[in-house]
Amino acid sequence: MIYLDHAATTPISKEAIEAWLKTSEHYFANTESLHEEGEKARQLFYTCKKELARVVNGESEAVYFTGSGSEANLLALESLYKANKYKGNHVITSSIEHPSVLSFFQRLEDQGRDVTYLPVQSDGTILLNTVKNSIRKDTILASIQHVNSEIGVIQPIKEIGQLLRRHRIIFHSDCVQSFGKVPLDLENLPVDTITVSSHKIYGPKGIGAVIMNKDTPWKPVHPLTSHQEGFRHGTIDLPGIAAFTTAAVHIHERMDKQLDSFWTLRKYLLKKLKDSGIHFTVDGGEDVETQLPSILAVSIAGIEGQLMMQRLDRYHIAISTGSACQSGKQDPSRTMVALQKTKQEIHRYFRLSFGKDTTKAQLDELAKRLVEIVQTVAV
Ligand SMILES: Cc1ncc(COP(=O)(O)O)c(C=O)c1O
Repeated sequence: MIYLDHAATTPISKEAIEAWLKTSEHYFANTESLHEEGEKARQLFYTCKKELARVVNGESEAVYFTGSGSEANLLALESLYKANKYKGNHVITSSIEHPSVLSFFQRLEDQGRDVTYLPVQSDGTILLNTVKNSIRKDTILASIQHVNSEIGVIQPIKEIGQLLRRHRIIFHSDCVQSFGKVPLDLENLPVDTITVSSHKIYGPKGIGAVIMNKDTPWKPVHPLTSHQEGFRHGTIDLPGIAAFTTAAVHIHERMDKQLDSFWTLRKYLLKKLKDSGIHFTVDGGEDVETQLPSILAVSIAGIEGQLMMQRLDRYHIAISTGSACQSGKQDPSRTMVALQKTKQEIHRYFRLSFGKDTTKAQLDELAKRLVEIVQTVAV
């Protein structure tokens, strides 16, 4: 099997499994318990918070674990909003956010708040001036993702954060796709909260985290919540957290090398496809610094992405498309719509996403099959 869908999820690493097993066996006590076993579990929990904060140069006091990246987004946004909602009526986000972020803003809109959905340029980036022009006297909160999952475009969140900070606007950034892939230095990044997810970095599924600036005001979403300073209900999943932290430390240790190798693989595949003579485009840019090299949003004239995915699947090559095909319904990729693609272009899109075990030999096989499919089905 050739797995090229790492932006959707990654296989759990051996180290993360070991950490999960060890913690389940030896640190099973409730972190809230006052006995010795509880204290042992609590100390491990604090170590995990410290380690997770360390890899992004953040503050361990303000690390809160959740049940997913989606839940992390919802809880972060809601608790920031609750603490600031009396200050103004306007909030800002982008048109290419993850559904968890968009659902929060849609709910605010339903409640009568003014929401600006920032447009993107043809390469997927958001212009600083667009953000600037959207700011109003009553803007209280903004949420802009770091890396887009569909085309891999990297937003200039440092510059956006500096601008928002000058206007005292709270800034949240969904970093689920960038965490462990590109450096994040929270000490020098003007953001109030970021969110991350374990299963995108070889950790277990069902664990995410919010990493905050400890001075940012927030309010618990649910009353009477006692765990994690009121940030999230429920007994802490320490085995999951330990496994996630282990995966986070490992991916950060090899991040620079991995980034170089993803660029090499990307260029290698693109050259191979060009040499084959097929006509294709890559959204977000082939070789630009605003691009995460491990994600390739490809379109080939004459072939729908769904068909490409199904055909490659026959050769045991796993890729994905922007359309979730559920009970016969196809939702077009939100990002492609924001890029103002035609219906036909939107349907052509498919995504390749590399992981730590992706090799040139796998890309040779992919390119060979891709060209074969184009020659047999393209019209
Ligand atoms: C940018 C982005 N944010 C949030 C999420 C949600 O993470 P999770 O699957 O842990 O809920 C994803 C997952 O695809 C994502 O790509």
